[in-house]
Amino acid sequence: MPRKLLLLLQLQLPILFFISVSIGPVNSHQESGEWSCESGSEIRVDAEFKPGLISLDGHAEDWKDIDGFEFSLLPALDPHPDHEYKAGKMTVKALHDGHDVFFMLQVDGDYVYSKGNSKKCPSVSLMFQIGDSATYHDMGGCSQGKGSCTNKTCKGHEVDIMHFSIGTAIPGRLYGGNLVDNSEGNGGDRFGHLVDLYAWNPHCRYLDGLGPSGNDTSAQNDWKGAWWHSSFDINSGFVEEDSPYSTDGKQGTYYFEFSRPMRTVDRLQQDAQFMIGSSSKMSVAFWYPVDGQPWHGSGHYSVDCDWVSLDISSGNSMLTSTGPSASGNVSSAFALLLSVVSLCVSIFVGYRLFRPKSIPFTPMENL
Ligand SMILES: *[C@@H]1O[C@H](CO)[C@@H](O)[C@H](O)[C@H]1NC(C)=O
Ligand SMILES: *[C@@H]1O[C@H](CO)[C@@H](O)[C@H](O)[C@H]1NC(C)=O
Repeated sequence: MPRKLLLLLQLQLPILFFISVSIGPVNSHQESGEWSCESGSEIRVDAEFKPGLISLDGHAEDWKDIDGFEFSLLPALDPHPDHEYKAGKMTVKALHDGHDVFFMLQVDGDYVYSKGNSKKCPSVSLMFQIGDSATYHDMGGCSQGKGSCTNKTCKGHEVDIMHFSIGTAIPGRLYGGNLVDNSEGNGGDRFGHLVDLYAWNPHCRYLDGLGPSGNDTSAQNDWKGAWWHSSFDINSGFVEEDSPYSTDGKQGTYYFEFSRPMRTVDRLQQDAQFMIGSSSKMSVAFWYPVDGQPWHGSGHYSVDCDWVSLDISSGNSMLTSTGPSASGNVSSAFALLLSVVSLCVSIFVGYRLFRPKSIPFTPMENL
């Protein structure tokens, strides 16, 4: 009986978690210096179950059949439509393969790259709610200052952050979690600066594993990712000497692709944990060196002025057409078939037992 219930539940999950998708502009404004946000609360990013589709290489071709969610990019600290990122909207795509969750961020932008100077290159960040009290505004919204925030005073305000600064990252190459940094037990990435952080507010932000009340070497950088720009005309692979990889100012689209296991070994409340059939809260930030000027930390654009829902849908969508009642029919048909077969077997056995013994006994040696 519990197994049947489980089957029924599994079949119903896709229906329960079927998510309506809506793409629309974010209406937000700021009034008299006070923070206010009128978010389009209907915005949801749906991560469907699509195994075996994505190679983590920064290229977008493998995402072409995945629906994206288009967002206007407004300054995070003053989300006024007049100050929108002018070159285009950001398209956010997500999916999962049952183990990892994948993200693709696409944003139009003239090519700029300055080797070794990340602030003169575009940059992106993902942020997720961990603690129930963590707000989008103020990166968790803990009211403690830099000197007093700890995992006790800010408990419940944890947000998980992935930040990719591409100044030392070769396009198409994989960055993020690596053996060297993970063996030190923190969320750093010395090669490409694709780091795994957590925060309670903008002033209390730390690499996973590090913290104001001591370091813990059990942490890891659980993210991986790559970037690309559509103006690149080779596919075989860049090396560092190819920098700046394309011509400055060339029109095109930036691609940032990421993955992370849905569950991590985090014991410190520093990673968001994703669950199939469940919803998480996320946000995406984007930095761009407008007019060649280096960006600064708080000068980023954001896809919304509040959390955006990320729905990780269950993998049973192929079965929804049959449905629970149809499966009931299938099992009763199977039961009927079984009983017909057993009836035939018992008739046959009965015949063998009670038929006249006309066949003479044949000794084994004569065979
Ligand atoms: C706070 O962090 C420290 C250092 O990582 C750790 O030893 C301690 O157990 C944590 N406390 C709580 C309440 O999480
Ligand atoms: C934790 O690690 C950071 C970076 O390695 C270091 O600067 C800091 O002093 C360490 N803190 C403690 C309490 O050991």
